[in-house]
Amino acid sequence: MIEFLQVTKMFDGKPAVKDLNLQLKEGAFSVLIGTSGSGKSTTLKMINRLEENDSGTIRFAGEDIRQQPVLELRRRMGYAIQSIGLFPHWTVAQNIATVPQLQKWSRVKINDRIDELMALLGLEASMRDRMPHQLSGGQQQRVGVARALAANPEVLLMDEPFGALDPVTRASLQQEMRRIHQLLGRTIVLVTHDIDEALQLADHLVLMDKGEVVQQGTPLAMLTTPENDFVREFFGRSELGVRLLSLRGVADYVRPQERVDGEPLRASMSLREALSLFVARRREVLPVVTDEGTPCGVLHFADLLRGEAHGANPA
Ligand SMILES: Nc1ncnc2c1ncn2[C@@H]1O[C@H](COP(=O)(O)OP(=O)(O)OP(=O)(O)O)[C@@H](O)[C@H]1O
Ligand SMILES: [Mg+2]
Repeated sequence: MIEFLQVTKMFDGKPAVKDLNLQLKEGAFSVLIGTSGSGKSTTLKMINRLEENDSGTIRFAGEDIRQQPVLELRRRMGYAIQSIGLFPHWTVAQNIATVPQLQKWSRVKINDRIDELMALLGLEASMRDRMPHQLSGGQQQRVGVARALAANPEVLLMDEPFGALDPVTRASLQQEMRRIHQLLGRTIVLVTHDIDEALQLADHLVLMDKGEVVQQGTPLAMLTTPENDFVREFFGRSELGVRLLSLRGVADYVRPQERVDGEPLRASMSLREALSLFVARRREVLPVVTDEGTPCGVLHFADLLRGEAHGANPA
């Protein structure tokens, strides 16, 4: 879908991005993560030509982006960032309608789209006519995401869209992004330096340092098979166990032949959630049910500790 081939971008004679090779797949939630100044934002901006690469090739849907008119390219990509806020003198509805207006959608169609997006992002309909300064930071960021999604772009580019939010609001927006991604199947590229956000959201994770990719792959692969010490340190040795638990599911560790009584875990929970419930209920073994409530086996606390089997069924 989006492909970087030997892409370099220089600023003042120094490379911000160096010989970058990347493949961001259609429909995937890709996350770029890395230290400050590692070239994440520059990489993102090259995708919609807010920055032009100095050498190499960037392809979108198989075609060199330099062959595509800039405005048309940007129309196919929604862009949401933390620092470019909303238009301050426009209402919420007007902000969301920015691109559909430019594309001369009918009034009815625009109004329907605004309603639909506000519902999708959990914004109350009564906020339609408010000005941005009458919203909380989290609500403003939701409007920013709604605006980026408004014209049904094929790709959603997001640069630290949940920065400057409290952890609770941030977590709920992250969950909504996951849900929206599953619902709409859109290709998303998100930049963050929040490790837990990256692990939670990414199908494909790209770790950058000094303008280069250090390692890329699934979150689980990055945690279990780091290619070097930088990767290991970056994901935090001390937090590793807990992070792994949050990426692994109860379903992978169920012993299907066994049954016990008690308040059950759901198979779709993460092992991290399961851990909390083991502690709360002071049990060594808990029953597991499917989302429909059908018993499907048990989970042993001890099996959580034998986690390195890549989700292999320990039974
Ligand atoms: N417009 C610019 N002019 C000059 N240098 C720039 C410009 N934009 C970025 N840079 C430099 O390029 C490098 C990469 O910047 P970039 O914004 O891509 O980093 P980043 O990974 O997004 O960092 P952060 O996490 O702090 O946002 C940095 O050294 C930065 O100073
Ligand atoms: Mg940045």
